[in-house]
Amino acid sequence: MRIGIVGTGHIGGTAAKLFAKAGHQVAVSNSRGPATLASLSSSIGPNAKATSVIEAVKFGEAVLLSLPYRKMDELPPAESFAGKIVIDAMNAYSGVGRVMDLGDSTSSEEVAKQMPAARLVKAFNTMGWNTLASGSRPAREERLVVFIAGDDASAKATVAKLIDEIGFASIDTGSLRDGGRRQQPGSPIYGRPMTVREAKKILG
Ligand SMILES: NC(=O)c1ccc[n+]([C@@H]2O[C@H](COP(=O)([O-])OP(=O)(O)OC[C@H]3O[C@@H](n4cnc5c(N)ncnc54)[C@H](OP(=O)(O)O)[C@@H]3O)[C@@H](O)[C@H]2O)c1
Repeated sequence: MRIGIVGTGHIGGTAAKLFAKAGHQVAVSNSRGPATLASLSSSIGPNAKATSVIEAVKFGEAVLLSLPYRKMDELPPAESFAGKIVIDAMNAYSGVGRVMDLGDSTSSEEVAKQMPAARLVKAFNTMGWNTLASGSRPAREERLVVFIAGDDASAKATVAKLIDEIGFASIDTGSLRDGGRRQQPGSPIYGRPMTVREAKKILG
C-alpha cells in the first residue's frame, strides 16, 4: 500500500520505518521540506521517499497525520484528503504540553470537520513512540494493542490489517465520537502499553 506520512518525527518516523519494513511504500514529509528528511528516508531504504506535504498526501492511499494537532490548520485543503484513508495519530496538546480544551468535541472529530470527505480512522494515539519502536511482536506472541476508532468500517479494517502487519494487535474502541473519546489523553487506556487481555479488562 502507498502511505503518506505528514509529520515525520517520533511517531511518524517510527511508523514510516515499520510500514516500510512490512513492505509498504512510504512518502515522508515535514514542515521544513524533503531535503531535511533525505537521510531518514535513505536509512529506511527503497520503500521510502522524502516529499513535500502535499506530495505525501497525493501519494498516499492512506495518509498518517502525525504532526502536532495545533498545526492542523497548516494541512493542505480538505479536497486533497477526499476519499483517502486518513489515520489520525494526533493528540490535542498545546505548545506547552497541556491538553487543549475542545469543549464537547474531541480531537478526531475536529479533524473530521476539517476534511469531511476523508475516511478517517483514529489510531496510534495512546501508545508512546518508543513502545511503537520496540514493541512489535510476532503473531504467536501476546501482542501490544494499538487502538482504532472511526465511522468507516472498511477503512478501519484496512488500518487494523496495517497494525497486524507491523506486529501489533488492534482493538476497535467504536465510533469516532465515542470510540475516539475512549482514547483521549487522561483515559484509562492512554499512555501505557497493554496487551489485548489487559485492554479488554480495562474497557470492559
Ligand atoms: N510522541 C509520542 O509518543 C506520541 C504518541 C502518540 C501520538 N502522538 C501525536 O503524534 C503527533 C506527533 O508527535 P511527535 O512526538 O511525533 O512529534 P515530533 O517528534 O515533534 O514530530 C512532529 C513532526 O511534525 C512535523 N510538522 C510540524 N508542523 C507541520 C506541518 N505544518 N506540516 C507537516 N508537518 C509538520 C514536524 O516537522 P518539522 O520538524 O519540520 O517541523 C515533525 O516532523 C502529535 O500530534 C502527538 O500528539 C505522539
